[in-house]
Parts: sequence; C-alpha cells; structure tokens
Amino acid sequence: MTIEIRAARPEEMLDYRRLTAYVFSSPDEPSPDDEFAGTLRPEWTTCAFVDGRLAATMGAYPFRVRLNGRRASVAGITAVGTYPEYRRQGLLRRIKQQGFAEQRERGQYVAMLWASMGAIYQRFGYGLASTLAGYEFDPRQTAFFHDEVPKGSVRITPMDEARPVMQDIYRTFAEPRNLLIERVEVGWDAMLRPPPKGGRYHVGVYRVDAEPRGYMVYRTKEGEAMGEPNPQDTMWIRDLAYLDLDAYRGLWAHVRAHDLIGRVFWHNAPTDDPAPDLLLEPRALRRRTGDAMWMRLTDVEQALPLRPYSGEGALTLRIRDDLCDWNDATYRLETSGEEAIVTPTSEAPDLSMSVNTLAPLFSGLRTATHLANAGLIEARDASALGTADRLFATRYAPWCPDGF
Ligand SMILES: CC(C)(COP(=O)(O)OP(=O)(O)OC[C@H]1O[C@@H](n2cnc3c(N)ncnc32)[C@H](O)[C@@H]1OP(=O)(O)O)[C@@H](O)C(=O)NCCC(=O)NCCS
Repeated sequence: MTIEIRAARPEEMLDYRRLTAYVFSSPDEPSPDDEFAGTLRPEWTTCAFVDGRLAATMGAYPFRVRLNGRRASVAGITAVGTYPEYRRQGLLRRIKQQGFAEQRERGQYVAMLWASMGAIYQRFGYGLASTLAGYEFDPRQTAFFHDEVPKGSVRITPMDEARPVMQDIYRTFAEPRNLLIERVEVGWDAMLRPPPKGGRYHVGVYRVDAEPRGYMVYRTKEGEAMGEPNPQDTMWIRDLAYLDLDAYRGLWAHVRAHDLIGRVFWHNAPTDDPAPDLLLEPRALRRRTGDAMWMRLTDVEQALPLRPYSGEGALTLRIRDDLCDWNDATYRLETSGEEAIVTPTSEAPDLSMSVNTLAPLFSGLRTATHLANAGLIEARDASALGTADRLFATRYAPWCPDGF
C-alpha cells in the first residue's frame, strides 16, 4: 500500500468534492458546473492518496480576518474528511502534520475552522476561540428598556441595490471587531444564495437622512397552524450589521414591525451583542450559547504579534506543543499595546500552557484567570495572571458568523 500526501490536481477536484459530499451526507451529486465548484483552488488542498485513490481531504482558504481590530492572514480550514474504509489509519494525522508546515510556509500562522466534533481537533492542538449566541423570541416581548425612537427608518431594498450598501457597512462594522472574516465577493455570493430550505432573503437597510447606517438579511415563512389567536409566521435573521446603536435599535424596530411574525430566530449573534443589556425583558430572547470557531496557532512566535494588545506590558509564556515541535518553547512577549515583539527565551515562565489553551487566550475568548481556574494554565503568581488578563483583553468578543 502506498500513501501519498499532496495537493489535489485540477483534474482531481471533482473527486475531492465527491469525497466531501459523501462524508458530509450531502444529497447532491457534485458536478463540474456547480456554482461554487471553483471556490477552493487545488493548491489550497492537502490530500491523502492510497494506492493512487483519493482517500482523505483537507482545504485551507487564505482568509483575512480581524484579530482584535488588526487585519491578519489565516488558514480557514474546510472539507476535512476521510472515506470510511480508510478511517482510523492515521491519514488525517498525516494531512494535518503536512498541512501545518505548508500553512506556515504560506505565512498563515493561525488556522481556524468549524468542527463537526471538537474531539477531532483538540488532539491536533486546536482550542476553542469563539462562541455564538442564539436567540429565539417573540418580537412582541422585546421592547427596549430605554425605548428611544430611532432617528431613521428601514426600507426593504432589492438585493442588487442593497449588496454594495451592505458591503460598505460590513467593512466599517468589521474593522474594529475580532475574528470577523473579510468577505470577498464569493463569500457574499455564498452568504446570499437562496436558503437551502426554500424561500428567499430580504434585506432591510436602515438609513438616517438617506445615509445607510445598518442592514439585516432575513427570510420569513408563513405559519402552518390556521385559526390560532397568536401570530404564527417565522423570521430567521441571517446577517446583521450596524454602525451605531441608533441603527441597531432601528433594525430591531423593523423586526418588531412584522405583526404576523410570532417567532424570530437569530442563531449566529455575537456573545457581546447588546440586546441582552438593552431589553426590558432579556429572558424573552431565550438566549443560548454554543462553541463556534476552533483555532490553532501554527507558529506561536509569528502569530502572537499579529494582534494588538490592550496596553503596555511584558510576559514570559511557556507553550507546550507535541505536534509542531518548532512551537514547543518559552517566549518573551513585550508589547506597547499596538505593537508586540516576541522572542524565544530561557527565562523562567510567568505562565505555562498547552498550545490548545493559547487559542482561547489569544482570541480573547477567555481570560488567563478563567483558564487557570479551569486548571489549564499554571501561573508563577496572581500578578502574572492579572497582567495576562489585562494584555490579552479584546474590545469585542471573538465572533465569526460565517460558515465555510
Ligand atoms: C474526522 C475524520 C476526518 C478523521 O479521519 P481519519 O483519517 O480517520 O483520522 P486519523 O486516523 O488520522 O485519526 C487521527 C486521530 O484522531 C482520532 N479521531 C479520528 N476521528 C475521530 C473522531 N470522530 N472523534 C474522536 N477522535 C477521532 C483518531 O483516533 C486518531 O487518534 P490518535 O492519533 O491519537 O490515534 C473522519 O473520521 C471523517 O471523515 N469524519 C466525518 C467527517 C468529519 O466529521 N469531518 C470533520 C469536519 S470538521
């Protein structure tokens, strides 16, 4: 049996998509004419071929994301799969090992992904880097505590007209945030394609004196129970961005202006979304949170300076990494806040942790104190934890609402 780990060739990409369609139980047979067939380029893949047959796959989109407001290149890992007959033979492990080295060569020092199961990735050095909030509410119960009247109003806008407006708003909205992907045209195409379960998306654009300040993309569905006293229709919010809180309130007012909607779902809200702080009855949101983006620092020394820190200071970090041995070292992080210098050192560490635990600290999902309380960080003393809490804090919670 021969095993070859390499990128797929252009003529092998249909097989690649057949494999991923199979392992993710897609009902559709891939065809060369599929709308998004060319989205993942062959050179971004790392695959295992067993005796010449494609057996396992992984892709890495070259994304730009915001890391605490700073633009950074990352690998957006996608389409990880092994045909069942080749599973538990170490193919994914070999793909991962080679993939990390390739991503590092391409200057992608951070990898992130949506996991079908966290258990698959934790053994490869990934840690949880973001969570999502999900709401399910009756819009009639979601008045704001300070019910200020928005200065502008929402107009339902045809998709073609709305798209460039949304793109402008999203760019400004994303800029200071944390972990949002810089959406390229094909990312917008994918987001706005008709929902798989039928229906179509509407866009509401909020304007003040004709100036667009926010938008929401959503779909609605007619209720099935006739003759009920309460509204039965449903709304799903797909995407929402705003430039200030007046626009945020304006978009909520738009949701609440739908008299026949009895249930609103917003499943990919940020965990620091202001609604729970602004509503008269926060419990009405029926808020849940769940794990979202998993992250792996493929090169710790190069990754740590990619984000701004929240003040001046220095820390010595011992990072354990048994898969990427180039990371397994102690680092001195010195930062002015905006810039950081990271160098390997032989000094005694302030904090010690695995590369997995570095992910939630680096992304701002968890404080060092939280991770130490969970037994995941060993600290020299309480002041080292306090310094790490301060430096790694982010202005916004890490949040990535986009699937890939
Ligand atoms: C996940 C998947 C790609 C693993 O592929 P594989 O080639 O069998 O993986 P490997 O044989 O290299 O296993 C690597 C390690 O992960 C472990 N592992 C593999 N799949 C696992 C799973 N589903 N849950 C927990 N651990 C898993 C293996 O036991 C092995 O551990 P070890 O190295 O400590 O012995 C494959 O099971 C699959 O295609 N699953 C369905 C699609 C999917 O969920 N993909 C992930 C999308 S995010």
